[in-house]
Parts: sequence; structure tokens; C-alpha cells
Amino acid sequence: MSEYALEVRDLRKEYRTRRGLVRAVDGVSFAVRPGEVVGLLGANGAGKTTTLKCLCTLIRPTSGTLRVMGQDAMAHPHRALPRIAAVLEGNRNIYWQLSPRENLEFFAGIQGLPVRAVRPQIHALLDFFRLDAKSDTPARMLSRGMQQKLAIACALVKQTDVVLLDEPTLGLDVQTSFELRGILRQIASGGERTVMLSSHDLAVVQALCDRVIIIHAGRVVTDERVGTLLELFRPRGYRVRLDGALKEPQRRRLEALFPAVTARAEADGGSTVDVEMHEPQTMYDLVDALRQDGAAVRSVERRSRSLEEVFLSLTEQGLAA
Ligand SMILES: Nc1ncnc2c1ncn2[C@@H]1O[C@H](COP(=O)(O)OP(=O)(O)OP(=O)(O)O)[C@@H](O)[C@H]1O
Ligand SMILES: [Mg+2]
Repeated sequence: MSEYALEVRDLRKEYRTRRGLVRAVDGVSFAVRPGEVVGLLGANGAGKTTTLKCLCTLIRPTSGTLRVMGQDAMAHPHRALPRIAAVLEGNRNIYWQLSPRENLEFFAGIQGLPVRAVRPQIHALLDFFRLDAKSDTPARMLSRGMQQKLAIACALVKQTDVVLLDEPTLGLDVQTSFELRGILRQIASGGERTVMLSSHDLAVVQALCDRVIIIHAGRVVTDERVGTLLELFRPRGYRVRLDGALKEPQRRRLEALFPAVTARAEADGGSTVDVEMHEPQTMYDLVDALRQDGAAVRSVERRSRSLEEVFLSLTEQGLAA
């Protein structure tokens, strides 16, 4: 038995189109332990949905290996499929003519769960997702947010080990997105289910995920714990403007103190020095170090990296690799 809930090795998916071959997924590997909640990030067209579709055996990969709860999903999809539930691209998995209750009964039924046995759970899900007032209204008459919640409830009622959610909060208003995030957090914190979700909403990923995998052009460029990734979002350092050039002894002193120092001369005879650091309080060390050596400090400004900058720099590294 594999120690992983999901194991993906060198996954590739090529689509043949009239304009030639599209490499949607180009050698993706990762492993997810039971109970982990992993976020899949990446720009439009990065290959997130394709990866999730391969995982739930909706499409057949061109090559690679896929294991779901230890089962080889390519050789024996019928063994892997009952272990996994997915909500792909919004809420298309629900039946419009059926009410939330009927949808939940239907999805429990196709999973082979006796409806009578899952009734209490269906009741709890309707309550949990605040769909109880609309439990007998056809799904087509529900709001977009309610339909999205119902789609997720339908995936959960199957009681699978693994749940895949493709952009679960896409197109929801702030309130509903926040509410759904709270619901997902409760599911995720239970630790019984392994969850993989894709999202463009970094707040959702930060609130829910233990780990983040960033894919770019069909490849994994980052696979990090969220805490580690957040370190990258901290202030990057400071930019110091000096009257005159940075002298060699000053540079050496700074380099002994800080991880990265770059200096460039400005047209007005002054210079700009960028210093990278991890701890914000070392700005005082920086100014002290410069003043000790008699540099005339004109200004010091904090340089912080936005989430977008980190994301872009990580995906650009992927492009260069
Ligand atoms: N059925 C298909 N036929 C041809 N090309 C496809 C097909 N599905 C996806 N692609 C292409 O594969 C690449 C990856 O698409 P995918 O939908 O996996 O990206 P994504 O990361 O989910 O993007 P988004 O954030 O926009 O949802 C894209 O270049 C896309 O155009
Ligand atoms: Mg997608």
C-alpha cells in the first residue's frame, strides 16, 4: 500500500488540434499524503484543469503514472475512481432538474451508498451548506453560489478519500466566497480527506492549503509548504540612495551582514544600493553600517514583493528552466 493518497509521476497530456500538438501537461510529478490539502496554482492555460481531469480519470494521459490511494488509475481506473470525487470547472456536475436533496441522493446512489443510510448525512450537508431552505427547489432555480455549494456537497456525499476542486470559488461574490472558504476550511481541517484544489484566489489558497504546487506551461515550478512560500512574500529588503558611490570597504561590510547587495551608479553622481534581508529590523544595522563608513545616506525605502511578483518570478524561473 502506498503511503500517498495521490502519486503523480511524469504526467504528460498532449492534445492534437488543427493547429498542431498542444502540450497541456509536460512532465508533472508530485505526491500528496492522506489528509493533506494542496493548492494548485498557475496562470490561465498552465495545465491545472488538465492535471485534475487526468487524476479523476476523466481524460487519459499521454504518458506517466497516476496512483490514487495506491491504485494505478491508468491500468485500473475502475479501482481508482471510487476513491475520488471531483468538482471541475464550476458546477456542471449537478443535475438542473433535480433539487439539492435529489442531487445528493443521486450522487450517493451512483457511489453505491444506500440512500436510507446516507439520509442523515444528506440532511447534515444541506444544513452545513445552508441549502436547507432550498432543499426541494430545482437546482436550475438556485443562485450561482448555491449551485456551486451544491456541486461541492455532491462531491462530498460520495465519502471518497480524495476530493478534487477546480476553482471552487470562481465567480462567487465576496460574501459567498468567504462563506464557502469557511466551509472548505472545516472540511480540510477534519484531516480525513485529501483535498487538491486549484484557484487563482491566493487568499483562498492561503486560508485552506498546507502546501502549494505552482505549475507553469505544464510543469511544476514550485512545490512548497505555504509557510515557506509566505516567507518569500515578506519584505524583500531596502533600497538606499547615497550621495556618491558605494566604496569598496562599505560594500564588503554590507556583504558580510546581508545576503545580497547590489549597487549601481546614478546619473546625478549618487548611487542606489539594493540590500536583501530577512528581518525587517536589520534596516538599523544597514544604516549603521553605512554611516560608520561615512556614507551620506539620502533615503532608505522598503521594497516589498507583492504576491504577484513572487508568483511571476517563480513562473518565469520555470520558463527559463
Ligand atoms: N480539449 C482540449 N483540446 C486542446 N487543447 C486543450 C484542451 N483542453 C485544454 N487545452 C489546452 O491545454 C492547456 C492547459 O489547459 P488547462 O485547461 O489545463 O489550463 P488551466 O491551468 O486549467 O487554465 P485556467 O486557469 O484558465 O483554467 C492550454 O493551452 C489549453 O488551451
Ligand atoms: Mg482550469
